[in-house]
Amino acid sequence: MPFFSITKEMAIGTAVLGVAFATGVLAGKKYPFLAFGIPRSSKTLLGKGGPLWQYILDHSLREHPVLKKLRLLTLDHPWSRMMVSCDQAQLMANLAKLIKAKKAIEIGVFTGYNTLNMALVLPDDGKVIACDINEDYVSIGKPLWKEAGVEHKIDLRIKPAIQTLDELLADGEAGTYDFAFIDADKQSYNEYYEKCLRLVRKGGIIAIDNVLWHGKVLKPSKNDMETQSLHHLNEKIFRDVRVNISMLPMGDGVTLAFKL
Ligand SMILES: C[S@@+](CC[C@H](N)C(=O)[O-])C[C@H]1O[C@@H](n2cnc3c(N)ncnc32)[C@H](O)[C@@H]1O
Ligand SMILES: *[C@@H]1O[C@H](CO)[C@@H](O)[C@H](O)[C@H]1NC(C)=O
Repeated sequence: MPFFSITKEMAIGTAVLGVAFATGVLAGKKYPFLAFGIPRSSKTLLGKGGPLWQYILDHSLREHPVLKKLRLLTLDHPWSRMMVSCDQAQLMANLAKLIKAKKAIEIGVFTGYNTLNMALVLPDDGKVIACDINEDYVSIGKPLWKEAGVEHKIDLRIKPAIQTLDELLADGEAGTYDFAFIDADKQSYNEYYEKCLRLVRKGGIIAIDNVLWHGKVLKPSKNDMETQSLHHLNEKIFRDVRVNISMLPMGDGVTLAFKL
């Protein structure tokens, strides 16, 4: 869905939020929003497309002009809602900088918004291994990687991501990556996570997208394998002593796992 326009679904979400806010204020709550949890018809705690989310973007998004161009270009695509949330991408870039990342892995490229975002903060000899199976999606954004002058940092691998990760492991690259972003087919998340844990160095970060899955993780139905997969991984990572974690209500929910 378009990022800066409010769809009908979102408008309802915002209305629900408004009621929740008013009720919260009446009840004398300091943080009325949080007291009401995830609003109905809304993807995130703050309601993507809602006024506070817009405020966050207006006061924190510092988007590289070519990234912005790529985002706007992607909005014309029927599957534009697959694109990573721009505020979340900015956080990941800040984290990558903070840990002085040189090598990153992108699992699920789509039109390449976050691939470009990462490439922009890596040093000139840095590398993003960009994994996707759909060359058509990637070809939409690829010219902009060149326009931004970072194409040489992007190593695109068009094949199932599991295969690419296995190749990296077979090449002896375990423990050499700084950052990984898992954002492809949900049923393979556990495998992606395990392989990334081996590829990432101590102190490296694995970001896992869609961990709240539009709220469906609250009530995972038995035959919804995507929700089951995400929910099981959330439960596993919660107990995983190999990482320190934060689960953030940003975008569709993102877990940051810091390898110990
Ligand atoms: C949510 S989108 C990725 C969004 C992207 N991270 C961004 O910055 O906007 C998911 C992508 O995963 C890709 N994908 C699906 N199954 C895959 C697989 N087995 N291996 C690699 N990529 C896959 C899809 O083609 C799609 O482009
Ligand atoms: C991980 O978290 C624990 C406590 O939650 C903390 O003591 C430890 O220092 C953390 N490790 C790192 C490497 O940040």
